[in-house]
Amino acid sequence: METRSCRSRAHPSLALAKYWGKRTGGINIPATTSVAVTLEALTTTTTVQVHPCPEGARPGDRVMLDGEVQEARRFRPFFEELRAIAGVRSLPGDSCFTVDSMNDFPTAAGLASSASGFAALATAALAALSGTANPEEVSRLARIGSGSACRSVYGGFTRWEAGSERAVQVRDETWWPDFRVVVLPVTVEAKAVTSREGMNRTRDTSPFYDAWVGDAPRLAGEVERALEERDLERLGTAARLSYLRMFATMLGAEPPLLYWLPRSVEIIRELARLRSRGIPAWETMDAGPQVKVLTDRIHAPLVVETFSELLSLPAIVSGPGPGASVESL
Ligand code: DP6
Repeated sequence: METRSCRSRAHPSLALAKYWGKRTGGINIPATTSVAVTLEALTTTTTVQVHPCPEGARPGDRVMLDGEVQEARRFRPFFEELRAIAGVRSLPGDSCFTVDSMNDFPTAAGLASSASGFAALATAALAALSGTANPEEVSRLARIGSGSACRSVYGGFTRWEAGSERAVQVRDETWWPDFRVVVLPVTVEAKAVTSREGMNRTRDTSPFYDAWVGDAPRLAGEVERALEERDLERLGTAARLSYLRMFATMLGAEPPLLYWLPRSVEIIRELARLRSRGIPAWETMDAGPQVKVLTDRIHAPLVVETFSELLSLPAIVSGPGPGASVESL
């Protein structure tokens, strides 16, 4: 078998209605429907080589991220699934994978690097194996690596239904050209508790978890209607409820999960002041202290200027971006 390689690109998926909680009986099957936007300004580029496995090293896969070798355990279910797909398609079953991935933004700090990472990896690996990368199959495979990655496979606005094995596109990246996300990085430190561990802890110990899951479909529906109408105020209001209720369930976990830093709270409060002056800017947050602001093209520069002194890295302004793609085969 000769060595084949493929390079791909993908962008992070920022949830407007959040995925937080997994159903039992499958890998990364969400308990809540999430609705998200794919962010153009942040990019993961990944090269995958498919080659015969090295002697004596089974399974012999190797993943580098930003120049550092990654723990094999994190990637095992993903590569197992990939080999199962190869088996079904009668592709060379003894293949091993060597992966080199680069982010142009800080990893593991709540900027959804696992979403773009596994979307790019699934795209490049399937394309290197079989010559094509069908988005439905890529989305299903990317989900095994990290749930939110199944949304990053698609551009624009996406939905990942509770109980589903893959995401779908709701609207493409041209739907709302004026929509902007301003990412405000308040720290470059990696998060202490991964989303995976945090979700499981919340499900297993928080008395608020069932209420969160019960209310999530209504909020996801509200976010989608706001997207349909391109109604920023409606979207921002629903997105705020989603992330704040997600954090409310986390605070009820044992031990409690608190991802925020004082600067995150400072920004949240200042955004409320901006809104009281009529500036359209609503925040959302994920499993980390960074704040992401939902706004429009006209007001994004004001948001950047307001918070620039509080940040540990420059703000990033992004519109809706494309889905994962193959760069070269
Ligand atoms: C808070 O997709 O990183 O960003 O499926 O365990 O890999 P795993 O979790 P991950 O969780 C993302 C959680 C979130 C909300 C979201 O993106 O919907």
